[in-house]
Amino acid sequence: MTNAKQPDAQPVSASAVRGHVYKVFPQDMNAHRAVFGGLVMSTIDRLSLVVAERHSRRVCVTAAVDAIHFLAPAKDGDTLIYSASVNRAWTTSMEIGAKVVAENSYTGERRHIVSAYLTFVALDENNKPVAVPELITETELEAQRYIEAQARREMRLDHAEKLRELRQQRPESHA
Ligand SMILES: CC(C)(COP(=O)(O)OP(=O)(O)OC[C@H]1O[C@@H](n2cnc3c(N)ncnc32)[C@H](O)[C@@H]1OP(=O)(O)O)[C@@H](O)C(=O)NCCC(=O)NCCS
Repeated sequence: MTNAKQPDAQPVSASAVRGHVYKVFPQDMNAHRAVFGGLVMSTIDRLSLVVAERHSRRVCVTAAVDAIHFLAPAKDGDTLIYSASVNRAWTTSMEIGAKVVAENSYTGERRHIVSAYLTFVALDENNKPVAVPELITETELEAQRYIEAQARREMRLDHAEKLRELRQQRPESHA
């Protein structure tokens, strides 16, 4: 990490994206007539990147995507409503939590379809990890997410380490 000055702490609300809408059309469907999951994942990654870059005021890269849960399918004609915000910031990395709701605009029914957690790392001008602002939580829910994020970080770094060890056991030509 570079020795840049620690930036000022920022509240969750300063970088959050709320209510980004996407109207589903027939070309967005998979063979089972549900919305193609990759489309949703791509938008989650983009919006979460915006949140990370707003929070850090730096170029950020996706370091890890964990726990994308597809809870229910979205259908043709639904409106997808995306939200994303910083759950916690550590030294150079941040966890962004994203949520997608599918809305039937004619009945008003809403279904929670996807939740995901993404880790972004802020980079300096030399593409080296650089310090990010601490996070200020302002609501009970934000405070709860802040606590939970630490447990997720430990699991994901442990998981990444175990995957690295498994890869190292492969024959060299397949590493
Ligand atoms: C992410 C990346 C910058 C980390 O670089 P690195 O040399 O491993 O850096 P460090 O070991 O100093 O770790 C930097 C931070 O990343 C975090 N990190 C590294 N690997 C991680 C992983 N798999 N999951 C979660 N966090 C991770 C570290 O915990 C550290 O966070 P902290 O400073 O808040 O404690 C580097 O691996 C990279 O550039 N990856 C490619 C990113 C990319 O191209 N993304 C687009 C996808 S195509």
